[in-house]
This record gives sequence, structure tokens and C-alpha cells, in this order.
Amino acid sequence: MKLDFPRYIERIGAVNINSIQKVYELDSGKSEEYHNTYRTIRKINDEELLDIFNKLAIIIPIKDEKLKLLEGVLSGIPHDCLVIIVSNSQRYPIDRFKMECDILQQFTRFVDRDAIIIHQKDPVLADIFRDLEYTSILDGDIVRDGKAEGMIIGMIIAKMLNKEYVGFVDADNYVPGAINEYIKIFGSGILMSQSPYSMIRISWLYKPKIVGKSFYFAKWGRISDVTNRYLNEVISYHTGFETEIIKTANAGEHALSMKLAELLTYSSGYSIEPYEIVNIIEEFGCILPSKYPDVIQKEGVEILQIETQNPHIHEDKGNEHLSRMLKESLSCIYFSKICNKSIRWKIIKELRSAKAITHDQLSPLPTIKPFNTIDIQKFANRIGDSTIRFYGNMERYIKYYTV
Ligand code: GDD
Repeated sequence: MKLDFPRYIERIGAVNINSIQKVYELDSGKSEEYHNTYRTIRKINDEELLDIFNKLAIIIPIKDEKLKLLEGVLSGIPHDCLVIIVSNSQRYPIDRFKMECDILQQFTRFVDRDAIIIHQKDPVLADIFRDLEYTSILDGDIVRDGKAEGMIIGMIIAKMLNKEYVGFVDADNYVPGAINEYIKIFGSGILMSQSPYSMIRISWLYKPKIVGKSFYFAKWGRISDVTNRYLNEVISYHTGFETEIIKTANAGEHALSMKLAELLTYSSGYSIEPYEIVNIIEEFGCILPSKYPDVIQKEGVEILQIETQNPHIHEDKGNEHLSRMLKESLSCIYFSKICNKSIRWKIIKELRSAKAITHDQLSPLPTIKPFNTIDIQKFANRIGDSTIRFYGNMERYIKYYTV
């Protein structure tokens, strides 16, 4: 893969937000002939990527998606990445979770690789979280519904298995080749990052729609366009310089180093992606008191945004779904202490005109505390293979995991 270095960087305290980088070649040929020093383009070799893939867990949150799409997504994930599926699919009257398990088992057997699947609503998982005092992920006596909650469970399992990086891909993607590119971008971004506390966010080249009888290659999704604008307003307010740096506010496809992932506070459901950026600025932007002064002093945090060559084609879940996503995305900005009164007022106006709220009042979404507060060995000791299902070669994981 060949991609360029960022052209400029927005700095807020100890946070570096890089401008969009572009993929020039999906496959960049032999390694010897190219020297990376002093160039504007970085060549990433296959061997470098393979090394990262061995340390990378790919988490797929899934809720009642078409199984054919899941099969396609699995086929696009590079062989050496560990797959972790966290499902919130229905169990009754049809057990869709069981169907997902069957597909995963068959897939791992045929291609000879490792994968894990777990159900978000497994009562044993909720019991473990309660006993380990990680209750912010619960709703009563069970894990709360929501994509964020699924992603966090995946990250905790990845940490238990000593993975150094986590990446996320949605289960409803129609193009396996795009999934493959996203994950190569995750690996390339990790290799290009200057800080061990890094996040790599995917920006799609296009998100095609069918308009009339032909394709229209839209650049921005309807929600990300708005969320980008408000995040940029917040950053501009604090730096005093107007910016358009954020282009990936709602990037469902993104990756994090485990070092950064375990420090963040997360926001529930679909607000997780914009709130990751908000929380990074809250914790490391030197605007509010931080829980992590050491990271601010030493390495800092880096956010990379990388544009694909593949278009993004996924399931269209309708207007009501988009409206909910808009409300959740803007709500997590609205309630942050880094937001100001005038931006809050504009958010309310925006949500009212989009008919996402009927009254002026917004309520805060639940937040989920950093998972570095969990004793991971105790988690590993408690979780059994009736809750977490391993397919493939379990042997290599057994040392982290005692039934
Ligand atoms: N485990 C779990 N639990 N997974 C869930 C849940 C849940 O409660 N709800 C949704 N998912 C899964 C879906 O099955 C899918 O694989 C993925 O999360 C994304 O959810 P969608 O409902 O398909 O979201 P979307 O496609 O409209 O939006 C996606 O793209 C946005 C950017 O355009 C999401 O990734 C958003 O988070 C993202 O902002």
C-alpha cells in the first residue's frame, strides 16, 4: 500500500489531528526499490503489515444483519487478524445468533484461522461486569443495547488476549474488497503514527447512492457532514482559528491502539465515534483537567484520517435510523464541557430543523467508563466457553483464559 503523509496537523494541547491522507496504491510492489526517507509518500510493505495484523483484533458488532453480508465481511479480513464478533442479534423465535456461530465455525474450519463470537446479552457476561464493578455498561441486570456496548465488549476480549490494536468494521458491508482495504489502512496508519496512543479513522472516497436509474457518488454521508461541522466548530472555538480538519466524525470503521482504547470514556450506541474525538480532546486537549498527565507530558495522542480508494456500500436503514444517529451524535458534543453556549444553541436549532427533536430539551446519553478499570485477569478467569466461543486454534489463547 502507498499513501501520503498528512499535509497539515491541527494541534490541541497534546492531541495531533492529521489532515486527510490518501491511498495511492492498494498494492505497492517489491520492497527494495523504494526508500521512505524524505518522501511525501510512504510505502508500506506486506511484511510490515503482517506484523501489525498479528497484533490486531478486528471487532465486528452485529445486530440482525443479512448473513450473506457477514460472510463477505469475514472473507475481506486479512488472515492473520483475530476476528471477534459481538452480537446483539435476536435469539427467539429464530436464533440468529446460533446462525452466526454456525457461519463462523464453518468459515474458520475452511480457511483455518481463529475467531471468537459472544452475545452481548449473555447474562453471565453481565454478572462478571457487575462483580468486577464495571456497571456503566449495564442496563439493570444485563448489558445495555447499543453498538458502542458491543464494541467495548470486543475491546475487553482483545485486551484479555494481549492484542495491541483493535479495529472495527460493520457487518452490513456489501464489498469484501473494501473491508480488506480498511484493514490495510488500519495497519498502515498504525505504522505511520508517531505516538503509541493512536487512532486511525477511515474516510470513504464515495458513498454511492442510486438516484433515478444511475449511481450518484456522494462524498459525505448525511450525518457525518453535520457532525463534522460541529466538531470543527468546537475545535475552532478553542484554538481561535477556524478549521475543517475533522472529516471522519462518524467513522464506524476505525482502529485504536489498545494503549489509547483502554483510557477512553465511551458514549453509548451510535454516539461512540464522535465522542471518541470529544473525549480525546477532553482528556488530552489541555482544556480540562486530565486523568492522564503522563500521556500529555510524553507521547501525546495522534488521530489519523485516511481516505480509501474503494467506495462504501452498506445497508440503508432508513430515515428514522438516521435521525436517531444525528441526535445521538450531536448530543454527545452538546453535553461535553468543551462545548460552549452558542454551539449548544446551534445544535438544538439543527436538531429541531431536522425534526430529530420536538422540544428544546436533549437528555445526556449514558457514558461507559474506561476499561482499564477492569481487572483483566479476573475477567479471564471468570469467562467460560459457554459464554465466549472460540473457533480455530484455541491452544494459543489458553494461557490467558482459564475456565
Ligand atoms: N453488537 C451490536 N449491538 N451491534 C450492533 C448494535 C448493537 O446493539 N446495533 C447495531 N449494531 C451493528 C450493526 O449490525 C452493524 O454491523 C453495525 O453495528 C453498524 O450499525 P448500523 O445500524 O448498520 O449503522 P449504520 O450503517 O447506519 O451506521 C454506521 O456508519 C455510521 C457512519 O456512517 C455505524 O457504524 C455508525 O456508528 C457510523 O457512525
